[in-house]
Amino acid sequence: MKKYYITTPIYYPSANFHIGHCYTTIIADAIARYKRMTGYDVFFQTGTDEHGEKIEKKAKEQNVTPKEYVDKIIADAKDLWASLNISYDYFIRTTDENHEKAVQKIFKKLYDKGDIYKGEYKGLYCIPCESFWTESQAIDGKCPDCGRELKEVSEEAYFFRLSKYQDKLIQFYDEHPDFILPLSRKNEMLNNFIKPGLEDLCVSRTSFKWGIPVDFDPNHVVYVWVDALSNYITSLGYPDENSELFKKYWPADLHLVGKEIVRFHTIIWPCMLMALDLPLPKQVFGHGWLKIDGGKISKSLGNYKDPREYIKDYGVDAVRYYALREVPFGNDGNFSEEALISRTNSDLANTLGNLVNRTISMSHKYFKGLTSNPKLNEEIDNKLIESVLALKDIVETKMNELKVNEALDEIMEVLRSCNKYIDETTPWTLAKDEAKKDRLATILYNLLESIRHCAILLSPFIPTTSKSILDELNTKKTSYASISNFGELEENLTLNEPKILFNRIENK
Ligand code: ME8
Ligand code: MG
Repeated sequence: MKKYYITTPIYYPSANFHIGHCYTTIIADAIARYKRMTGYDVFFQTGTDEHGEKIEKKAKEQNVTPKEYVDKIIADAKDLWASLNISYDYFIRTTDENHEKAVQKIFKKLYDKGDIYKGEYKGLYCIPCESFWTESQAIDGKCPDCGRELKEVSEEAYFFRLSKYQDKLIQFYDEHPDFILPLSRKNEMLNNFIKPGLEDLCVSRTSFKWGIPVDFDPNHVVYVWVDALSNYITSLGYPDENSELFKKYWPADLHLVGKEIVRFHTIIWPCMLMALDLPLPKQVFGHGWLKIDGGKISKSLGNYKDPREYIKDYGVDAVRYYALREVPFGNDGNFSEEALISRTNSDLANTLGNLVNRTISMSHKYFKGLTSNPKLNEEIDNKLIESVLALKDIVETKMNELKVNEALDEIMEVLRSCNKYIDETTPWTLAKDEAKKDRLATILYNLLESIRHCAILLSPFIPTTSKSILDELNTKKTSYASISNFGELEENLTLNEPKILFNRIENK
């Protein structure tokens, strides 16, 4: 069986997660589910990045230990992922004992090899981003990522010889043109960071304690990126290279990350792996940001609700669908509750819900809910059948290119054409004529079978709704293989009563 290892970033549990974190995680979940459906042995990982000065400070403010502070947020995060039906296979925490031990071994290995050395760090540090910047990278003395104040620091520190791997990294990019997607981000990495010259990277700190101690020099804690990035292999059992999981799943097929951390995943991480003599991940995709009113999603601005509020009001699949469909994948996009409502109404209520509801209702009205396929097809039917049969491969192509929003739109397009097919074949007129009974049955069969195909293809994206539809159809043909042909829906099947899948939401 082909394997597929997909990861989200491990998020900072400095505060409860917001719709931005949900965005990455929902998309990763849809890709993971899609790969599982199409026959891959998937390992889908998410988790939390728990060390560092910021968490240490937050915990102090609340008079709790850093571990107590993060434990609460992780419990909340797991509840959030459950409410979004996130099907992760593994949740890694950087405070897990096996991760901490593994990071110490990785650090030592790099030190013994001479790729980590002791020096003195002087530079500018952004506490909220946990990022170091040089004078030339800072913009007006402020953090180029978030625009906040930078702090000048100087201390004894260990460094990783990033500079040593510069040429090998450029060569790797050349040989793997799809390593960084979208392509614009690869050019940004090359022009802004690699070609000007890679500087060695500070990988330990003595100024705070909440981190993994360097075991051979316990004044130091491992500084964030070596700790954080290693999560992708420590979860698989590394440094034990004979671990079953590691042998099976490494290298990762896809690291899905926000665009602000592409730099770490496509420069530092590959160089670390080269230093460890390990294969590099196949792909890093840097998606854009969800913004609110054009700006940051921000706890201090209070410009968003807990994502569970949206789930409660509109349903889990409305939130999932919005995240997957609204923004062209890779671009920035704006998040608003109005856009969530209008997307739900147009696609889920009007197009999908309405189609399923009217088709099943007509089947009950005209045939007591019993299916049959007399195959009295005409040109209009053949055209519909053709487009339904083509859909599986179209979705596959789009998903392989990670054009998730386009994959969904292709499915919606077929659903829209099903609604149009009803309007054009006018089953209610045929129903008046006893001689047209077989023609009517054919049309309803074609609709039900099209709905079955679409429901199966939608299952990675909106699993709850997909299941409701297949339950309404009462069909046993729910496998991915069963949509290679048109006509697998059983005859003499009694459909269940239609239920409202999505209510139209009135604008608040
Ligand atoms: O960076 N729009 O953690 P983090 C879209 N611990 N995605 C968003 C988003 C938004 N507005 N806000 C957050 C870290 N994200 C590190 C990662 S990985 C080895 C270490 C998502 O809590 C997006 O995926 O700041 C982004 O990259 C990530 O959350 C940042 O999470
Ligand atoms: Mg961040």
